[in-house]
Amino acid sequence: MTEPALPVGYATSIRPLFRELDRNSMLKAFDLWRYEDVLDHRDAILARLSAGTMPCDGAWPASSVDLLRRWIAGGSLP
Ligand code: HEM
Repeated sequence: MTEPALPVGYATSIRPLFRELDRNSMLKAFDLWRYEDVLDHRDAILARLSAGTMPCDGAWPASSVDLLRRWIAGGSLP
């Protein structure tokens, strides 16, 4: 890391990563546009994103996965 890490919040940094397609595809399991749902399922979400098996149409870039990882490590702030 080249500079001090700023706190990562769900509303500003994480929610914008989820497309409408992502949200609609996963609504039966959880709502990716809802903080409480992403908080509850964060370990499963990180596991699938870091494995590259979600989203179904192409893996996230490493920078986005890192941001999610930092959000969790930093206390999963709203
Ligand atoms: C950032 C976007 C996404 C995330 C974080 C995500 C995350 C996940 C997670 C954690 C599961 C396991 C759920 C469980 O077992 O309870 C799952 C399953 C699934 N997702 Fe997604 N998903 C995303 C986008 C998508 C998209 C775009 C599609 C397809 C249009 C999709 C289709 C599915 C399907 C069909 C399953 C059930 C089958 C399986 O486990 O592979 N998801 N997803």
